[in-house]
Amino acid sequence: MNQGDITAAQLRDALECGDKLAIYDVRLATDREWVIPGAIPLDIHDRLWANDPTALAAFHPPKGREIVFVCARGNTSMLAVRQARSLGISAASLFGGMKAWSAQWNTAAVTANGLHADVIQVRRTGKGCLSYLVGSLGVAVVIDPSVDPEVYLDLAKERSWRITQVIDTHVHADHVSRARLLAARAGARVLLPEQQRVRFPFDALKDGDTLKLGDSTLEIVATPGHTFESACLLLDGRALFTGDTLFLTTVGRPDLAAKADEETRRRAALLHGSLQRIARLPKETLVLPAHTSQPVAFDDTPLVATLADVRRHATLLSLGEKEFVDAVLAHIPPPPANHLKIVQLNEAGSFPADVADLEVGGNRCAVG
Ligand SMILES: [Fe+2]
Repeated sequence: MNQGDITAAQLRDALECGDKLAIYDVRLATDREWVIPGAIPLDIHDRLWANDPTALAAFHPPKGREIVFVCARGNTSMLAVRQARSLGISAASLFGGMKAWSAQWNTAAVTANGLHADVIQVRRTGKGCLSYLVGSLGVAVVIDPSVDPEVYLDLAKERSWRITQVIDTHVHADHVSRARLLAARAGARVLLPEQQRVRFPFDALKDGDTLKLGDSTLEIVATPGHTFESACLLLDGRALFTGDTLFLTTVGRPDLAAKADEETRRRAALLHGSLQRIARLPKETLVLPAHTSQPVAFDDTPLVATLADVRRHATLLSLGEKEFVDAVLAHIPPPPANHLKIVQLNEAGSFPADVADLEVGGNRCAVG
């Protein structure tokens, strides 16, 4: 680390504390698929690498704010810092760049009438993964853990909860699951929907199963389509953890390889049936997805919506099966980076040393 660098964790803490920072993103415009909330694009990448001494000539940052330059891996931002200093402007470079930022997170409390548990949404702001810590009467479950296990352990400890169960709603393709690591650290059980994909011990969840958590109940709702084993979890009949089956404004993708073939059509038809089942739940049911397609702001506002609101935005939900399958297949995005390798790791239950390289970029779990 160079003098004047700021680490991703330090930047996270500063944003969490509400510090007024001026963050400038100096990557090529084509590389800015995923950004830090509030970051301002600055198109000087090539000029910095060309040693153009006027790259920052028109740069007039606000006074009294700490300036942070950000790039993909912390090299271009260092050039920006050097040039800023030569102009008498104090600035920091994000050490490790967006690759390091990918693992950062924030939280927001979820509230809803009729829940007998407290729900904390843990948001991986640098990738859009949403996970949940749910606690009742001193015990807790974590759903779809995607950040460092210590984050969940610390959040649980602050609330005097003991994590007893860790659940993945399906075998993920965009991030390496932290479920096994977290369960090992917490002395908890790993639970997954019933399937033959993973090659490690787990407790199988079947459609209609119920899990007791303190005063609360989690009911398993099998929702094949995004993957064959995908399941949702209904908390106290009021809040539905939808995994990658249903998001706040759209639906999950039914494929991995971005191929509009017969297999994908079959998955899309299954997804349609699963979504219709969800759509029959009471309209005030709270939808709690496993991903968002936007970087998550440090605003303490949970990313949730009622089923009625989701139905208003996700117009795919109102289509018949054939129209739904055609529409979904017409809007499948490219797969997430390294998805085949990530799926292999999640099926093996392994956690690689190069996880930051594998997980670089956004999640691309949604259709549209
Ligand atoms: Fe997924």
